[in-house]
Amino acid sequence: MSTATTTVRLPAEADTHAFGRRLGGVLAAGDLVLLAGPLGAGKTVLAKGIADGLGVSGRVSSPTFVIAREHRAAPGGRGVPLVHVDAYRLGGRLDELDDLDLDTELVDAVVVVEWGEGMAERLSDDHLLIRLEPLADETRVATVIPHGAWRDRDWESIL
Ligand SMILES: Nc1ncnc2c1ncn2[C@@H]1O[C@H](COP(=O)(O)OP(=O)(O)OP(=O)(O)O)[C@@H](O)[C@H]1O
Ligand SMILES: [Mg+2]
Repeated sequence: MSTATTTVRLPAEADTHAFGRRLGGVLAAGDLVLLAGPLGAGKTVLAKGIADGLGVSGRVSSPTFVIAREHRAAPGGRGVPLVHVDAYRLGGRLDELDDLDLDTELVDAVVVVEWGEGMAERLSDDHLLIRLEPLADETRVATVIPHGAWRDRDWESIL
């Protein structure tokens, strides 16, 4: 069964983390996830959850100098590495995105790109776009938008 664009309410940070963990539980090598939303929306919190769901090594953070960081598959995890990218500082420069060789990484890893919307789609027509919108309180609303093959995939277990 396929799932269309859906919204999820995430009242607290723990909910965003848990949502990411569920997503990490269904991702496979070659999957591209783009995270959008303003500064402080919770993109890195979501990426941490995805890393937990995949069971990869190393702490996911918002590195100051590193744009892409690879987290190796770890014992007890799902056996798939994670490449976590923060494209904020690329400022839309596609040549610099291309220099990261993410298309090569994507063959064997899950690639998650913060600030990737409008840029990282070129890596794959088949991707999951998640937009995080902060409400007045701590609540975030995640809009999950499947593109390409994701439209025919069964990912409703993450909701
Ligand atoms: N419901 C929520 N979901 C996620 N984070 C929340 C929530 N409520 C509060 N927060 C807080 O919002 C902040 C989100 O920070 P995070 O670094 O994940 O944002 P970001 O979208 O990655 O920002 P940036 O664009 O700077 O990379 C954290 O301090 C977290 O504790
Ligand atoms: Mg971040």
